[in-house]
Amino acid sequence: MTFQKLVEFKNSVEYEVVGYVVGESKPYKAEILAFRPLAMGEYLYMEYHGYRVLAFVATSITGSTIISRDLIDPRDVERLVKSVRVGERLFYHRGVVKILGSVNSDGYKLQIPSIPPPPGTEVYKAPKTVLESVFSPRKRNYVGVGVLLREPEVEVKVNINKIVSRHLGILAMTGMGKSNLVALIAKRVEELGGTIVIFDYHGEYTSLKNIVLIKPVLDPLKLTLDELARLLNIPRNATRQRMVLKECLDSTDFGSAKEFFNSMKRCVQGRIARYGASAQKVLDSLNVYEGFLKKVLKEDTGDVIERIAIGSINVVDLSELHLNHADAVIAHWLSRLLEARKASVWSNGEKGFPTPLIAVIEEAHVFLPADDETSTKSSASLVVREGRKFGLGLVVVSQRPRGLDPTILSQLGNLAILRIVHPEDQAYVARYCEPVMQDVMEELPGLNVGEAILLGEWVPIPAAAKIDLVSEKVSGMDIDAVAIWGSYLNKK
Ligand SMILES: Nc1ncnc2c1ncn2[C@@H]1O[C@H](COP(=O)(O)OP(=O)(O)OP(=O)(O)O)[C@@H](O)[C@H]1O
Ligand SMILES: [Mg+2]
Repeated sequence: MTFQKLVEFKNSVEYEVVGYVVGESKPYKAEILAFRPLAMGEYLYMEYHGYRVLAFVATSITGSTIISRDLIDPRDVERLVKSVRVGERLFYHRGVVKILGSVNSDGYKLQIPSIPPPPGTEVYKAPKTVLESVFSPRKRNYVGVGVLLREPEVEVKVNINKIVSRHLGILAMTGMGKSNLVALIAKRVEELGGTIVIFDYHGEYTSLKNIVLIKPVLDPLKLTLDELARLLNIPRNATRQRMVLKECLDSTDFGSAKEFFNSMKRCVQGRIARYGASAQKVLDSLNVYEGFLKKVLKEDTGDVIERIAIGSINVVDLSELHLNHADAVIAHWLSRLLEARKASVWSNGEKGFPTPLIAVIEEAHVFLPADDETSTKSSASLVVREGRKFGLGLVVVSQRPRGLDPTILSQLGNLAILRIVHPEDQAYVARYCEPVMQDVMEELPGLNVGEAILLGEWVPIPAAAKIDLVSEKVSGMDIDAVAIWGSYLNKK
């Protein structure tokens, strides 16, 4: 904000003193005694030591020393409330604010001053002009996702580039608007000509406009040995079984043979003489799993990378798959995406997948669990570690954050946290997500559907936002069982 603008603001009606800094403050935190109740998530503004600082109400308390909890007769309260004199204050309003950063002349790169606000500092309601300069930058890489929760006239924009380079976690209880936010981000990415791939385990993104629906089939000959071994349930330490599998993958002429399973079985059968029980085990696995695997393995389907429509919302429909298969499909996609991006970067766009892109994993506590090893977890770990350099951003969506792999969680540079009530989930997020603030965590149960705290590098400072509703995304709504029962019987 320029000095001129600051003068304008001080003369404007927006200029409301809400209270004063009291007690002890720290560079990033202060306590306020206010004239009115403070709203959680409300933005405040202070000036001290030459800094012009934005702060965020993290805790809001209203109390009374007169109507104290030591009273023992409710009639005393009645008497006190009735006999209050004009102008006399029965309550105090306090708040703890998080200092978000100092607004400088070029707007939105905020840094926390090294000095705490001195007690007695005037605290204002943050003026709209300041908030707009921070939350709605007019830059191409910033896209609108909603409005400020406590200041609905101010649009909240997020930096899409940061999702690609620093990944994103969308965490909340069920039904709070995670998938709606995914749908919104997908639309915004598409509007920018970007590419996004959503692994849709519940088949809920199919109602979005302009999507490219991708069947979850994989070409068996494009799988790595490890991927195939996992699908056949061959353990990692079963070296001889893997050897059989590898020899057959390398030797059999699958190119012309359309029948992967038959060719494979023929080949493995031929190795029994040499590998004995190990080959027999592989053969057994092929026989046992053939029926299941035919759902995901289809000859001649080619490389998954070639099925992505550039500049579109690509939805890989996993809704009919068993969990293990969905795991194999996501894992294969992620490793191919990373390889293809690496190839592109290393060949200057000659090979691989030509543009940066974003991949979304729903139900991440299932595919990226804390207490189990899945194929998706190994691929996703690589993506969160290396994706930044190669332009592959990962969006991790979960309703059970405490079930998420902590290593992956701690590497998510951006977060959207909607309503979370379970204390263990809150504690887990606070522990593994570095930028999260403990006080804000305590307020998460107070959020409503579609209300989110946005944290990390994709926002200039933490934002409490009301996310826009994507009206065309119809599924995800709670089922009205009572209405369905009624209409079903009426029809009969
Ligand atoms: N930003 C929003 N504004 C208003 N309503 C919303 C918003 N986001 C979601 N909703 C409502 O909440 C419902 C559930 O949203 P959504 O499917 O996104 O939740 P979810 O967190 O993905 O749930 P689940 O954990 O079950 O996948 C939506 O159908 C919609 O009616
Ligand atoms: Mg959902």
